[in-house]
Amino acid sequence: MTTSSLPTGWHEPTTAVASSSEPVGWRNAARLHPTVLVGALHPVPAGTAEHPVVPPEPATVPEPVSRETSVDGATAQGPEHAPSTSPLADELVDRARRRQALAGSSVGKPAQPRVLTISNQKGGVGKTTTTVNVAAALAQFGLRVLVIDIDPQGNASTALGIPHHAEVPSVYDVVVEDQELAGVLQECPDIPGLWCAPATIDLAGAELELVSLVARESRLKRAIEHYQEHPGAPGVFDFILIDCPPSLGLLTVNAFVAAREVFIPIQCEYYALEGLSQLLKNIELIRAHLNPELHVSTILLTMYDARTRLSAQVADEVRNHFTDQVLKSTIPRSVRISEAPSHGQTVLTYDPSSSGALSYAEAAKELAARSTTIAE
Ligand SMILES: Nc1ncnc2c1ncn2[C@@H]1O[C@H](COP(=O)(O)OP(=O)(O)OP(=O)(O)O)[C@@H](O)[C@H]1O
Ligand SMILES: [Mg+2]
Repeated sequence: MTTSSLPTGWHEPTTAVASSSEPVGWRNAARLHPTVLVGALHPVPAGTAEHPVVPPEPATVPEPVSRETSVDGATAQGPEHAPSTSPLADELVDRARRRQALAGSSVGKPAQPRVLTISNQKGGVGKTTTTVNVAAALAQFGLRVLVIDIDPQGNASTALGIPHHAEVPSVYDVVVEDQELAGVLQECPDIPGLWCAPATIDLAGAELELVSLVARESRLKRAIEHYQEHPGAPGVFDFILIDCPPSLGLLTVNAFVAAREVFIPIQCEYYALEGLSQLLKNIELIRAHLNPELHVSTILLTMYDARTRLSAQVADEVRNHFTDQVLKSTIPRSVRISEAPSHGQTVLTYDPSSSGALSYAEAAKELAARSTTIAE
């Protein structure tokens, strides 16, 4: 495959996983030198005196770029805000540099499989978006990853392109009906190595049904442990990410009991820290009574808008409180990230060269590189 025939992304998923033991992701990005991208913005005129070349209209600027907010604040703005150097060119050069850095990096398997619960009682802060995109990035790095969708809304299943209508075997069958986890797994159609245990609408009733069941808080934990000890066709998972609903019912308690690590996405907005102390208290309770190993290992700042001072203030405050847990990578507010689920995709396949995709890949790399002993 030549560079010119490449899609916008970094990898060739189907051949990559099957044919090589090296980390899968981003290997093609090394071929895209920053000057290639800058060149695309400033093409060399090739006309003659009779047929002069008409300079391209601003509308030829690739659309995704103009709709992105970058992490470092290089934002596409109107001409009245444009500084003398081109922010778009800077943005593209920056993205090319980040893609090259990702291409040149590798991610090792964790010494022990890691189980993380992605949780925040606050709704709409980016739990599902973070779960599916971090999972996709880890799988593109060559790891075997499972997303367990324990939210009756089924948003993670949708975002991964996994059918989850009422007849599909789901997490409900695992936690309520005692079925094996292996029986409900589906592979993500776009990303080899990424699997999903989907949620169906049945899960909405599970909170009530669980109340009268034996070992109601640890049913998911038992299912995961049984699978990892007797793995089905996908094999042992390196990472298991559990996407929680925005509440602390028995489903979320099951997720806390099943995991060793809590991963909290925090939206960079005014109410971000409200409810966080309640979440931490709940984690402490679970730790005291049900799962002594549970700890907050990771915090990720999401929907960061570099144009607002508020985002920076919230980010500073969170970093001051949780110095060791907060990832250096920050997820920008990005139209491409919010569009991806409507195509049944993560942003990593929907627009792999976007700032959002790169940020999630960087966050996943950081997560994989971290020791799990933080805050223990
Ligand atoms: N970085 C981002 N930029 C732009 N939009 C985003 C970003 N992250 C998430 N969103 C959008 O914000 C909305 C809420 O995100 P998401 O569903 O991931 O939150 P959640 O915490 O899982 O919500 P819930 O509590 O309902 O489960 C979605 O429409 C999503 O597409
Ligand atoms: Mg969600």
